Amino acid sequence: MQFIELKNPRVLDILERFRYLYREKYDVVATNRIKQNFVGKHDLYTSEEYLNRIRNRGRGHEGSPAGGYSYPIKPDHYIGNDPQYKVDFTEVNDKLMVGLGLQASALSQLYPPQGFIDWHNNANASSFNVIFTWSETGDGWFKWLDGEKIVTMPDKKGWSCKVGYFASYDEKTPVTYHCAYTDCWRMTLSYTLGFDQDYWSDMIDYIQCEE
Ligand SMILES: [Fe+2]
Repeated sequence: MQFIELKNPRVLDILERFRYLYREKYDVVATNRIKQNFVGKHDLYTSEEYLNRIRNRGRGHEGSPAGGYSYPIKPDHYIGNDPQYKVDFTEVNDKLMVGLGLQASALSQLYPPQGFIDWHNNANASSFNVIFTWSETGDGWFKWLDGEKIVTMPDKKGWSCKVGYFASYDEKTPVTYHCAYTDCWRMTLSYTLGFDQDYWSDMIDYIQCEE
């Protein structure tokens, strides 16, 4: 995984819209159901010991995270009664996906302080990817396993962008174990792009382009 520069004003406008919607307009905490609430258990689930446990399971770990502490933003998790919620999400999400030529939305989450996602590798959702992260103060991180070395990518205040490739178990490229934690409010929007590296590179150029 690597950071890229977020310079494209059109992309920044869409991301600001995401921030406004889910940090100001809507109270996701009040209206969106948490599936797996592992609150307070981040020390264990983002530890090297847990990572080794997952790695030792090999293909027995199918790829999805087992748990964490975060609120899903997508409308299918919304139990409030404002019909505009789905309209707003669809509009802003489509704008980003069409603008960048994205294939699918993998995850749209809001993490409260002490929020996290446990070590996993997405081997069941192999693809080139892009991950947008908003952090209230920058007090959080994303970790991934590069060979035998755990790399920590610190969050940055405001929006930042990471890109990479998640392999499946059936490729020469190794799978990428990763996890994240935050001590402040944090939002993650992650998308897949399929398997065309040139297409993915063009998206990166577009995001980094000031126009
Ligand atoms: Fe993931």
